[in-house]
Amino acid sequence: GGESHIHDVDFSFEGPFGKFDQMQLQRGLQVYTEVCSACHGMRYVPLRTLGDAGGPQLPEDQVIAYAAQFDIYDAEKDEDVPRSPANFFPMGGDPAAPDLSLMAKARAGFHGPQGTGINQMVKGMGGPEYIVSILTGYTGEEKEEAGTTFYENTAFPGGWIAMAPPLYGEDVEYADGHSTDLHHEAEDVSAFLMWAAEPKMMARKQAGFVGVLMLTLLASLLYLTNKKLWAPIK
Ligand code: HEM
Repeated sequence: GGESHIHDVDFSFEGPFGKFDQMQLQRGLQVYTEVCSACHGMRYVPLRTLGDAGGPQLPEDQVIAYAAQFDIYDAEKDEDVPRSPANFFPMGGDPAAPDLSLMAKARAGFHGPQGTGINQMVKGMGGPEYIVSILTGYTGEEKEEAGTTFYENTAFPGGWIAMAPPLYGEDVEYADGHSTDLHHEAEDVSAFLMWAAEPKMMARKQAGFVGVLMLTLLASLLYLTNKKLWAPIK
């Protein structure tokens, strides 16, 4: 493929103490629902997780209402019924559009320098940055090939993507009054997709931190024990 350009974004969830920003996840859910879900699905994400702590954390009645706007086939009744929070997000409407459940972890944004991957240690894997860069990377050039329209994109490997620019800025109206510039919308939906791909990230980081703390304590105590045990002999 061609040179793809991914730019770094300072997301709230980066670093050892990073946290998802609940309001950002709610805005991202809105962009996903109003724009992306026309084509893409998230079939591996349970709808009930929209109410989980650390996520968009919608109140229970809103999770139920959100789920109910999508139908699902009920074999017993032999008809479509509204989804419940126990169901998953629906599949997308366009079979050519990949499922987005795990997209933020399926793609890496940073590989350098010289393909060593050292940038990933500093900036993270770059999955959400890759999505931001795709959404903001259209040049406006198009071409037609074998009946498909391709759009030039500076982030997509190969330079031409079969997804028309989904966002232009001011595509949604946020209830919290946050900016709907193209870049802000792109950051919000990418943060949301990161949460969808790794909903337990905050719990994992916290457990990791406590683990490191305990091991540090244990290491110091063992060091002192060792000193004391050997003191009379050495
Ligand atoms: C591909 C995100 C809206 C159709 C993709 C990819 C991502 C993405 C991350 C994968 C790129 C890759 O394979 O590395 C989004 C987001 C959207 C959105 C976040 C909403 C803001 C849409 C809409 C449509 C669409 C509305 C249909 C009109 C497609 C198609 C592909 C694609 C057909 C495959 C492109 C290819 O492989 O060349 N999208 N998308 N997307 N999307 Fe979207």
